[in-house]
Amino acid sequence: MVKAVVAGAAGGIGQPLSLLLKLSPLVDDLALYDVVNSPGVAADLSHISTTGEVIGSLPAEDGLKTALTGADIVVIPAGIPRKPGMTRDDLFKINAGIVRDLIEGVAKYSPDAFVLIISNPVNSTVPIAAEVLKKHNVFNPKKLFGVTTLDVVRASTFTASVVGDKNPSKFTIPVVGGHSGETIVPLLSLTTPKVEIPADKLDALVNRIQFGGDEVVKAKNGTGSATLSMAYAGFKFAEAVLKGAAGETGIVEPSYVYLEGIEGGKEVKDVVGTDFFSVPVEFGKDGATRVQNPLSKINDYEKKLLSVAVDGLKGNISKGVEFIVNAA
Ligand code: NAD
Ligand code: LMR
Repeated sequence: MVKAVVAGAAGGIGQPLSLLLKLSPLVDDLALYDVVNSPGVAADLSHISTTGEVIGSLPAEDGLKTALTGADIVVIPAGIPRKPGMTRDDLFKINAGIVRDLIEGVAKYSPDAFVLIISNPVNSTVPIAAEVLKKHNVFNPKKLFGVTTLDVVRASTFTASVVGDKNPSKFTIPVVGGHSGETIVPLLSLTTPKVEIPADKLDALVNRIQFGGDEVVKAKNGTGSATLSMAYAGFKFAEAVLKGAAGETGIVEPSYVYLEGIEGGKEVKDVVGTDFFSVPVEFGKDGATRVQNPLSKINDYEKKLLSVAVDGLKGNISKGVEFIVNAA
C-alpha cells in the first residue's frame, strides 16, 4: 500500500498533480491537504474509478496530522506563485514559513516519507526543509528532494524544437545546479541521443531553458506561473521515486539534493562547493542510492555557466539555512 500526500492540493499545481497521482497504479491512497478547498477536491477525485481512498483535510481538527500519518510520499506545491516582474526569491518571505510549518508536520507525523518540494524558491526551501528535519533528528538526505524536473522537461522540449525533431521526450538532457534563472545549467553537450546545436542558436536555447518559467508567468499575465507542465513534471518525478521504491532498477532523474548525504555526492560537492545541488540521482528502495557526476565531462561553455550558477546558489542556500538556524 502506498499513501501519497499532496500539501497545497487545491492549488493550480496541486489539483492536476493530485489527478495524475489518483490515476497512477503506483499510488493507492491519496491524502489532499490545503488551507482551503481540499475536501472539495478530494470529493471530486474520489469519484474516479481507480483503486484507493481519497481524503481531503484542512488545518482544523488536526488536518495536517490526518493527512501525513502513514504517508510514504509527501509532495509539496503549497505557497504563492510569481507575478510578472517578480523573482522566485521574492516568494521567500511567504513561502519559507509555509514550507517550514509543513515540514514540522512531516518531522512529527511521517518522518520516513519521501519528501518532494515544489514550492519556490526551491534553492532555499529545500535547505529550509533539511534544517527543520535536522532539528527533529529525522533528516534523511536520501529522501528529501527539490523538484527540478520541469527544467529537464523544458530542456528536452526546447532542444527538440531547435533541432527540428518532433519527439522531445527522446532527448535526455542532464540539467544541474538549482531552480532559478542562471542557477539552472543545462548540459546540452551531454544530451543523448547526441544533438548538434548550431553555434548561433546556443545562447538563446540555454537562456530559454533558464528563463522558461518567466515565459509562462508573462503569458499568464498576473494569474500565476506554470501549473499544468509542473503537475506533469512533478508527477514524472514522483513516479521515478515510487518506481525505485518498488524495486525497479535503472531509474535516474535530476533532483536538487543534499550532496554529502548520498553516495557520490561528495565528489560533486568537491567541484561545486555547495551543500545542495541538482544532479542526476539514481533511485532505489530507500530513495536516492547514488548521485551521478556529469561535471567531469562538461565543456568550457558549460563550465562558465556552472560558475555563475554556483555563485547564485550559495546565497540562496545560506538564506534558507539561516531562516531556521537564526530563529532557533
Ligand atoms: P497556487 O496559488 O495556485 O496554489 C498554491 C496552494 O497552496 C493554494 O491552494 C493555497 O491555498 C495552498 N497553501 C498556501 N498555504 C498553505 C499551507 N500553509 N498549507 C497547505 N497549503 C497551503 O500556486 P501554484 O501555481 O500551485 O504554485 C505553487 C508553488 O509552486 C509556488 O511557490 C510556485 O512558485 C511553485 N512552482 C514550482 C515549480 C518548480 O519547478 N519547482 C514550478 C511551478 C511552480
Ligand atoms: C517554473 O519554473 O515555471 C516555476 O519555478 C514557476 C516560476 O515562478 O517560474
